[in-house]
Amino acid sequence: MARIKVKKTLAPGVRQFVVDAPLIARKAKAGQFVILRVCGEGERIPLTIADSDAATGELTIVFAEVGETTTKLGKLNAGEEILDLVGPLGKPTHLEKFGTVVCIAGGIGAAPVHPIVKALRKAGNEVITIMGSRNKDLMIFEEELRKVSSEVIITTDDGSSGRQGLVTEVLWELIEQGKKIDLVVAIGPVVMMQAVCHVTRDRCLPTVVSLNPIMVDGTGMCGACRVTVGGVTKFVCVDGPEFDGLKVDFDELKMRQRMYLAEEKRAFEEYKITCGGRC
Ligand SMILES: Cc1cc2nc3c(=O)[nH]c(=O)nc-3n(C[C@H](O)[C@H](O)[C@H](O)COP(=O)(O)OP(=O)(O)OC[C@H]3O[C@@H](n4cnc5c(N)ncnc54)[C@H](O)[C@@H]3O)c2cc1C
Ligand code: FES
Repeated sequence: MARIKVKKTLAPGVRQFVVDAPLIARKAKAGQFVILRVCGEGERIPLTIADSDAATGELTIVFAEVGETTTKLGKLNAGEEILDLVGPLGKPTHLEKFGTVVCIAGGIGAAPVHPIVKALRKAGNEVITIMGSRNKDLMIFEEELRKVSSEVIITTDDGSSGRQGLVTEVLWELIEQGKKIDLVVAIGPVVMMQAVCHVTRDRCLPTVVSLNPIMVDGTGMCGACRVTVGGVTKFVCVDGPEFDGLKVDFDELKMRQRMYLAEEKRAFEEYKITCGGRC
């Protein structure tokens, strides 16, 4: 069990929990995730570790309420407990002094990007963070990312914060201006990561993406999270979640993410009608 110490609403339907999980917090590294269950009959869902503190034993997770389990999770309050939390899972981000790294965060991707930016700066890199969201109200983790980045560039679809446009337009401009970029890291919706790779492929810019397929066990046994990278089958839970974006088969990933859409929709509708509560 993991007790929720702090609960915050960051944007409509987006929550942040600081939980007491000393064993995980002691070992967590940038890029890793946890798998949790809200209740005994519920499914296991993966969430990225947005921050961790080995000294206090605190772990931060940020999640969007998109279906049954994340909505149930969002109903828990500070002082209550998450049934179980397993981690840290996945391979940590590969860190070294690359030079200049452009980190691109789309929507809720700003939370998982945060520990990576922090670790890349600690490794001596210049980090330019490009944050994008549909509008100002959905922009999360701006303050946290400003604290750890060398520079932050904000974009919104409607121009309500920062400049109007897409994160890929800013990346394109940086390249056109002749900015020397040694690595690009992109985390967010699959379409955004695919679009970033479309830009970087033309310029042969090394690009790391963090993939979010459906997961079940998180230990490489069930095969639910399989993706194709460079023509080879990989399991995101143990081989990732970060991969060379220029080699990822994004169309297959999108297709596999939609596999249980009808069941997910039905489960959420039934949950809202029959229960609408926690478990
Ligand atoms: C490594 C990893 C890290 C992630 N980190 C975050 C994070 O930090 N914050 C965040 O908001 N979301 C994160 N996700 C996605 C999150 O796990 C899903 O949003 C969540 O499982 C949805 O569950 P649901 O029952 O609420 O919604 P559902 O209605 O079940 O599903 C909504 C959508 O979420 C995806 N999904 C469903 N079940 C799973 C599952 N078991 N595993 C992965 N994806 C699933 C599907 O694409 C689905 O269409 C991460 C996913 C992965 C794989
Ligand atoms: S979640 Fe089962 S193999 Fe990765």
